[in-house]
Amino acid sequence: MQDKLKKIRENIEKNLEDVQNLEILDKIKVGALGKKGELTQILKDMKNLSPEEKPKVGQIVNETRQYIEEKINLKKESLKKELQEKKLKEETIDISMPGKKISIGTKHPMTLIIDEIKEIFLGMGYEIVEGPEIEEDYYNFKALNIPENHPAKDEQDTFYIDKNFVLRTQTSPVQIRTMEKGKLPIKIIAPGRVFRSDEVDATHSPMFHQLEGLVIDKNVTMGDLKGVLEVFAKELLGKDTKVKFRPHHFPFTEPSAEMDVSCFACGGKGCRVCKNSGWIELLGCGMVHPKVLEMSGIDSSVYQGFAFGLGIERIAMQKYNIPDLRLMYENDTRFLKQF
Ligand code: DAH
Repeated sequence: MQDKLKKIRENIEKNLEDVQNLEILDKIKVGALGKKGELTQILKDMKNLSPEEKPKVGQIVNETRQYIEEKINLKKESLKKELQEKKLKEETIDISMPGKKISIGTKHPMTLIIDEIKEIFLGMGYEIVEGPEIEEDYYNFKALNIPENHPAKDEQDTFYIDKNFVLRTQTSPVQIRTMEKGKLPIKIIAPGRVFRSDEVDATHSPMFHQLEGLVIDKNVTMGDLKGVLEVFAKELLGKDTKVKFRPHHFPFTEPSAEMDVSCFACGGKGCRVCKNSGWIELLGCGMVHPKVLEMSGIDSSVYQGFAFGLGIERIAMQKYNIPDLRLMYENDTRFLKQF
């Protein structure tokens, strides 16, 4: 029996040497000292010993038990320390390593041009306002003096949500919403997205951006309109830019005009950008129709005003020499990085 105990001790000592983790250590402990362990078995077998042998063997078994427990505890402590050191080492941060590079994005060309246009008008004392993209039929058409049977109201051009709501086809409804508030004078611009049911191609998209302008005050004339828009064109496209106004028709302005600017690619000599005409059509404008003023609760015998509206994509494409509108919405970083 004493031999057996010695064997157990040696065996355990040997096993402990190779132990790498706490679970295995636990298993060894249970295997030796647990209910079904080797030592416990020996204690059970003691009932067969003679009364003289019993205390002697009992003492040796107890000593062995203590010895093994001590060994296992020591191993446990050293193993714990080892594991902790390993973990610390793994988690150490080398503060001398170079940091991860964060690549900073660039502004989208549409954001760039909108910011630039906003700056120009802010400099002239304009306020920036916004209107809803889902708009009432009334604001998008009727209040702008666009009759029921106007082709723009056709479902082929306009996205209808239901009988009374559309995705706005222009930023002009913001004029009405601003006038209805009743705070005069008015001097605002309203940039934003507009929607038309167009097929996508190099120059068309069902969503694009417009910028609306509206000034309402006493004694406002067509001369003011021309002055403001000329300053705007020179600021945006260069001080040598020339402007010219052509008569046009819009239901919400009277008289109405379109403003052309001298081609900023060739300076007016004629090139591919201006289709050899020397001029580029930039925007629509006019004096606010008295009917529109009255419908929005403004006394047209006291107040007058002018309005203008421009398509922002077209200006951005010309200014940045972008040949295809689709490039604007594909978010290809090779394109975006160029701005
Ligand atoms: N809303 C017009 C359009 O989408 C553009 C426009 C023309 C706006 C003349 C105006 C304006 O404010 O006076 O074609």
